[in-house]
Amino acid sequence: MMAGRLIVLSNRIPTGEPPSGGLVVALHELLAERGGLWVGAASLFTETPSETFQPVECDEGYEKATFDLTEGEHANFYLGYANSVLWPLCHHRTDLLKVERCYIEGYLAVNARVARMLAKVAGPEDQIWIHDYHFLPIARELRRLGVTVRLGLFLHIPFPASCDIAALTEREEFHHWVAAFDLVGVQTEADVARCLETYRGHPSGELLFDGCVKFKDRVFDVRSFPIGIDGKAFAAAAEETPSHDPVRIPADARLVLGVDRLDYSKGIPHRFRGFGAWLDRRISDAPRATLIQITPPSRKTVPAYQEITRELEALVGHLNGRYGELDWTPIRLIERSLPRETLAPLYRLASLALVTPLADGMNLVAKEFVAAQDPEDPGVLVLSRAAGAAEQMTEALIVNPHDAEEVADAIERGLSMPLEERKARHTALMEVVDTTDIFAWGSRFTDCLSAPGAKPGVAEPLQFLRELRSQYEQSLGNKMTERAASRQKPNFGKAPPGTARQKEQQ
Ligand code: UDP
Ligand code: G6P
Repeated sequence: MMAGRLIVLSNRIPTGEPPSGGLVVALHELLAERGGLWVGAASLFTETPSETFQPVECDEGYEKATFDLTEGEHANFYLGYANSVLWPLCHHRTDLLKVERCYIEGYLAVNARVARMLAKVAGPEDQIWIHDYHFLPIARELRRLGVTVRLGLFLHIPFPASCDIAALTEREEFHHWVAAFDLVGVQTEADVARCLETYRGHPSGELLFDGCVKFKDRVFDVRSFPIGIDGKAFAAAAEETPSHDPVRIPADARLVLGVDRLDYSKGIPHRFRGFGAWLDRRISDAPRATLIQITPPSRKTVPAYQEITRELEALVGHLNGRYGELDWTPIRLIERSLPRETLAPLYRLASLALVTPLADGMNLVAKEFVAAQDPEDPGVLVLSRAAGAAEQMTEALIVNPHDAEEVADAIERGLSMPLEERKARHTALMEVVDTTDIFAWGSRFTDCLSAPGAKPGVAEPLQFLRELRSQYEQSLGNKMTERAASRQKPNFGKAPPGTARQKEQQ
């Protein structure tokens, strides 16, 4: 167990607006429960960035502070290197890479400044937990400044494939950036495999044993920590009955829901084409379905994000024009963020969720949808095999998001699925949501980072690392068993006749 403070660094921190990214939602829940210091980028630009963090008032159970950015740094560090280079790289879209010298310069300069500020506040007993692709070089900077505390990275997005890393001008540095951490956490086993493959393929890389990598004079650990949600809190929010019908779809229509930031990685146009294929097959008096797609805009000034907006709006117009009826609009696109209090009851009303990204670290919407369901009459989750969540949530209807006919088949199957099958699938999915919740995720990572006796830095004897791993695995096994045992299972008994059957096929 750690003696010092947990210091968390991420680019985005909560600002009072409804959050629409998985990172901020998940970290807020975790820090509100366990405390710590959370540092992120200030929401207003400055002309002369400070060399110290600015404390921000926070009554959520943790401390909050910000670092400054100039408008130019925001353009090069955030819009540039983070979101026009690393984001497309990690989501298999190297065709969208925009390589500019000023991007990498801005990225490195911001990382160096934030590292200097972190070095000032970190005590010898503290743990520093870095989040996401905005800060890949920061551990190397901290090491240069002589910081020896344990440094962990959690990558919320997919670890890039070796063939994609090859497209990076800084491909050699990339290996050094990652290797400067003590623990590299990723979402899935597939991510672990990609990370290991990257180092196995490098002349200076060596895989010591399962998940442990030697790179030059450093040894670090790579592990998967699938992120979760606070399922109980989400279920409670979903049970709050709205005072009025929030969707007003025709009485005979079923509600199908999509909830994603407006991002090309989310496969929203492919989803619309899948829904279009379902509409195309529908015979005239068959049950109708309305797809409501909630899509908060994201990174609006990056060109690739503007193109996707235009594509979506054109597709919605086309499909509604072709299949709409006087009293029915098949697709409704809402380009803004909804707060959790509105979103959670909406999930519960839906018969089906379409979570069909082309690439995604985890996808919390998949877990939130499951947690929000009425166990006696649950909706069906259609989940892309390319979402990290598909590694755990195998009882969803798993689809290839590129195949419109396969998506249409899943929509049809989900909308006509018998109650007993829906309940059985939901029970299995809920088990996943419960046993890998956000709190288990947080303690698994921080316990692993503070593994007793582990020393940061230089290569250590193999035997020592083996012992360390086995101690950790033993304690992890005990914790997971205790946590599972202490959870009360929801009652999945049969619904009394005549109740809660509104989602069943008419
Ligand atoms: N979200 C929200 N309001 C919205 C849309 C999304 O609060 O209008 C939240 C959603 O509930 C989820 C997160 O944003 O917690 C999205 O996380 P996810 O992992 O699905 O995707 P990301 O945006 O992180 O890629
Ligand atoms: C994903 C990333 C996060 C990011 C979020 C929202 O979840 O992993 O790091 O915060 O998207 O994106 P934004 O650029 O608006 O912060």
